[in-house]
Amino acid sequence: MLREVLPGVFRVDHPLVDHLVTRLRDKRTGTAEFRALVHHLSVLLLYPVTEDFRRGARRVETPLEAGEFPVLDEQIVVVPILRAGLGMAEALVQVLPEAQVYHLGLYRNEESLEPVVYYSRLPTDLRGKRVLVLDPMLATGGSAAAAVSILKQKGADRVALLGLIASPEGIRRFRDRHPDAVVYTAALDRALNERGYIVPGLGDAGDRQFVTG
Ligand code: PRP
Ligand code: URA
Repeated sequence: MLREVLPGVFRVDHPLVDHLVTRLRDKRTGTAEFRALVHHLSVLLLYPVTEDFRRGARRVETPLEAGEFPVLDEQIVVVPILRAGLGMAEALVQVLPEAQVYHLGLYRNEESLEPVVYYSRLPTDLRGKRVLVLDPMLATGGSAAAAVSILKQKGADRVALLGLIASPEGIRRFRDRHPDAVVYTAALDRALNERGYIVPGLGDAGDRQFVTG
């Protein structure tokens, strides 16, 4: 299910994931379906991402008897990159309501393609926590790389980037800057076009979720 396409870069290789990504790419897919697909894919990605998470035990009474049962024993921090990461975060907190959520606002300057930070609501210490950075698109890699640099200033030392579509250029730039941060993606596309969009891609993930553009 997890295919390591490059060191530290995993594609979630599964027929159901492929099927949902194809529907996401389709330009005829409307907003409601697009949001639902982002939601489903985010949950599917979470499954392999949490595979090595530590398990603890919790005492629980079932209707029949009491016992010790496994629970996740990690502090999980979900960091959506605004705006497009919001749909992914909503899905993850439904599965993990105890996760902390910190928002990081970045947009890409359409001329320079460089990220601009406009909002950062982060805690003082992220040390030892499982930080899941969410952004559906890893295009030039500038936004994700800048986000992880900001998180590291707050002590983050266990970072994973979860995305839906990545470009080879984006992966290279991100991993060059953050060789210690693992990347999980549902799809790996061919290239970037002259406007910095992933091709074949899905277009603008923020605009398609929020009916803008
Ligand atoms: C998109 C996307 C990423 C970024 C990827 O956001 O959600 O954050 O572009 O591009 P990069 O890898 O080249 O940096 P955008 O700047 O369109 O902002 P938005 O989500 O607010 O629409
Ligand atoms: N941002 C997107 O939403 N899509 C791309 O293809 C590139 C950046």
